[in-house]
Amino acid sequence: MSRLTKITLFVLVIIGSANAQLSTNFYSSSCPKLSSTVKSSVQSAISKETRIGASILRLFFHDCFVNGCDGSILLDDTSSFTAEKNANPNRNSARGFEVIDNIKTAVENACPGVVSCADILAIAAADSVAILGGPTWNVKLGRRDAKTASQSAANTGIPAPTSNLNQLTSRFSALGLSTKDLVALSGAHTIGQARCTNFRARIYNETNIDTSFATTRQSNCPKASGSGDNNLAPLDLQTPTSFDNNYFKNLVQKKGLLHSDQQLFNGGSTNSIVSGYSTNPSSFSSDFAAAMIKMGDISPLTGSNGEIRKNCRRKN
Ligand code: HEM
Ligand SMILES: *[C@@H]1O[C@H](CO)[C@@H](O)[C@H](O)[C@H]1NC(C)=O
Repeated sequence: MSRLTKITLFVLVIIGSANAQLSTNFYSSSCPKLSSTVKSSVQSAISKETRIGASILRLFFHDCFVNGCDGSILLDDTSSFTAEKNANPNRNSARGFEVIDNIKTAVENACPGVVSCADILAIAAADSVAILGGPTWNVKLGRRDAKTASQSAANTGIPAPTSNLNQLTSRFSALGLSTKDLVALSGAHTIGQARCTNFRARIYNETNIDTSFATTRQSNCPKASGSGDNNLAPLDLQTPTSFDNNYFKNLVQKKGLLHSDQQLFNGGSTNSIVSGYSTNPSSFSSDFAAAMIKMGDISPLTGSNGEIRKNCRRKN
């Protein structure tokens, strides 16, 4: 191999790996107003309905856990695939799609054809956390959008609320997320709501639950399956619109709403992490921010893979 060939190959390897990396300044020259444009749209959506911040944060999680953070959850059904938004964990549950559409329109007006829907979702999720009082972090950018979605991957990849601790840790570790990341990210349940169908078995049939909390929740979630399935209860009974560490205080008191929540404080290896976060809000904040950055790094499409969608609901 000639010296020139070696140098050329070396340069190509460097360029190739640089392309695969996300960076916080990815759009700093191509779309300098990106951050302020997204933030003001998220702010106005949250002013109309506080819960929408939680819904956007969850959309980002459900995007990243299914073939990486590639905006696939935003795609509508087509003749060639069924949408992830209609998969079991998302149907009648995932929300906030109209807000993402509005942000995309504002971003397209400022910088047409430049910013991916996957990145818009990552920024909007971080803005939601910050606006509701949680930690801030620099969002890494440069993801591109998937051209297809997988409903079956959404059904198997997104953890169910019936999961036990082993199932949760193994799903997270398959995506490069540690047990500490699992506990920190679950702290997202300090905001938002869940439907009766997802916590009925817990409030009627489980023993590791505070009895007065169970009774309170039973009043708006009938025992008979099929009745009141969509009735809502806050995931954090104390402050469901503030991003704080009350979720962990609830778990220590056996007041987790979902079976999967209480699994994190049920005598197992994660008990000490939960009790740590329940007394040390700043360690929760910094671990949550670090874990969100890790989750946002799951299998992004970069370089010439994928595309920059014009409309987040369909491929170009
Ligand atoms: C650890 C495994 C997890 C399970 C089993 C789980 C399960 C659930 C379930 C069942 C709901 C209620 C949905 C409904 O009843 O309609 C929910 C809501 C929510 N989840 Fe999770 N989740 C998990 C982790 C996460 C993570 C990692 C995040 C974000 C970082 C997150 C953010 C949220 C938010 C913010 C809501 C409220 C959404 C709203 O009010 O619209 N969850 N989750
Ligand atoms: C409680 O558990 C019993 C026995 O497994 C089951 O038959 C019943 O449907 C459960 N009830 C609820 C509300 O989940």
